[in-house]
Amino acid sequence: MSWIELAEHPAFRGNLGPVPDELTDVELPVISGALPVGLEGILMRIGPNPRFAPPLPAQHHWFLGDGMVHGVTLSNGRAFYRNRWVRTAKWRAEDEAGRGLYAGWGYRPIEGAPKIRLDGTANTNLIEHAGRLFALQESFAPFEMSASDLATLAPETFGDGVSAFTAHPKADPVTGDLYGYGVQTAGFASTQARYYVLGADGGVKRSDVFDLPFPAYVHDFLVSERHVVFPLSPLIADRETAQKGQPYTWRGDRSALIGVFDREAGPADIRWIEAPAFYVFHVFNAYDAADGRIVCDVVEYSRPPLFPDETGRVPGTDEISSAIVRWTIDPTSTPVGFERRHVCASPAFSLEFPIIDERATGRRHRIGYFVGREDGDKIGFNTLARVDFESGDVQSRRYGPEDMLSEALFIPRRKDAPLDDGYLAFFLYRADEDRSELHLLDAADLNGEPVTVLGLPRRLPQGFHGLWLGVAA
Ligand SMILES: [Fe+2]
Repeated sequence: MSWIELAEHPAFRGNLGPVPDELTDVELPVISGALPVGLEGILMRIGPNPRFAPPLPAQHHWFLGDGMVHGVTLSNGRAFYRNRWVRTAKWRAEDEAGRGLYAGWGYRPIEGAPKIRLDGTANTNLIEHAGRLFALQESFAPFEMSASDLATLAPETFGDGVSAFTAHPKADPVTGDLYGYGVQTAGFASTQARYYVLGADGGVKRSDVFDLPFPAYVHDFLVSERHVVFPLSPLIADRETAQKGQPYTWRGDRSALIGVFDREAGPADIRWIEAPAFYVFHVFNAYDAADGRIVCDVVEYSRPPLFPDETGRVPGTDEISSAIVRWTIDPTSTPVGFERRHVCASPAFSLEFPIIDERATGRRHRIGYFVGREDGDKIGFNTLARVDFESGDVQSRRYGPEDMLSEALFIPRRKDAPLDDGYLAFFLYRADEDRSELHLLDAADLNGEPVTVLGLPRRLPQGFHGLWLGVAA
C-alpha cells in the first residue's frame, strides 16, 4: 500500500504523516527578528516517522512509527537543520529488505520477516544524562545518540540494570540524579514495575522491583524533592484483547489509583490513594510544600484520547476534554490525604504537553506552559499558553485554525537567569502552505513580536517531545 493510499489513515492525517528522507545541515532563513546573541546549542524534536508504509495498516497506530530526530543547531547567529532516523534493530532489518516487516503493537514479524531482538522504535523523548544523549521509548531501554551529528550509537541497558524505561524521567536539578520507572517489566500485561535512580556519574544507583494493583499504561509520573507520585489510571493492558490488536482498554468503571512513596526509601512502602477514574498523559511538576504536603500539577482527562473503550471504540477529539488540575497529597496522614481542584477555567477545548522551566523540577514552580485547541474536532493544537499557578491567570496566543504547534521547550535566557526568564521555542506547522517554522518567543510575553522566526526546508512532522542542549553562557 502506498503513502498516498494511506493519507486518510488516522496515523498519517495532516502533519502526522512522515517525511521520506534525511537532510543534512540545511541553513535556515531568518523570516523575522534575529537569533539572540549567545544562544548557542541544539534544539531537538523526536517523533514517529515510519521509514516504510506499515505492512498491516489496520494494526498501525501513530505511536508505533520509527523514531526520527530533528535537530536545529544555533551557532553564531546562524541555524542549521538536520534529521536522522534512530537505527533500531527494526529499522535496520526493514532498511535491508526495502519494505516494512513488523506490524502492530507487538511489532510482530509478517510472513518471511527475519526474527530480530526488538529494541523499540526510540520515538518518544530525548534526554541528556551524565553528558550522554538518549532517545527514549517507554517499553525499551534508552538508545544512545551522538549529539554532534544525531547518529545512532546503541541501546544502553546499564549492564542489564535497566529494561523498560519511561520516556519521562525526572532529573534532580541540584544532584543531577535521574529518577525513572518501567512498567510491565516481566512482560506485556504483567504487574511488575521497577523504580530506577541513575546517578549523575552515569551508573545505576538503584533498581527496585515493585508490584502494581493492575497492569496500567503509565506514561508519566511526578518527583518532588522527597517523594515519588505514581498515577495509575484504568487504561489497562489485556493479553486477550491484545491478540485482536487492542493492547490497552479504557475501563472507566474502575477507580484510578495514585501511588506515593519516599524517593529515598523506595517503593517498598508505596501507599495508594483511590480516586474516581481519570487519565493523565503528562504532568507539569510536583513539589513539597512547607506543611509537608505534596503539590502536583497535572493535565487530567476524564478519559484518554487515542485509546479504545471496552466496545473497541476510540472517541473523537471533540468528545474529550482536558484540564489543568492540582492534586494536594498529605503523606503524613493515614489514609493518605488527597484533594484535587481545577487551577483555572480551561482556556482551550483540550490541552496537552505541559512543561515548566526544568530548573524547578521537584521544586516549587509558579509558571507552566502548554498548548491547546479551542475549536473542536481538529488534529493537533493551535494555541500556546502560559499559566500562573499562584493567580490562576492564563495568557495565550492563537495561531491559524488548521495550524499545528509542537510541544514548546523552555530555554533559560542564561544559565543563571531567574526562573522563567527565557524563551519558548516551538515548531509551527503552517497548514495553508504545508511548511513549518521554528519560533522563539519571550516566555513572559507570548503576544509580543517573536524574538525569531526561522523557516524550515519542509514541514516537520508533529512528533512528541524535544530537548534543548545548550552551550550558552
Ligand atoms: Fe510523552
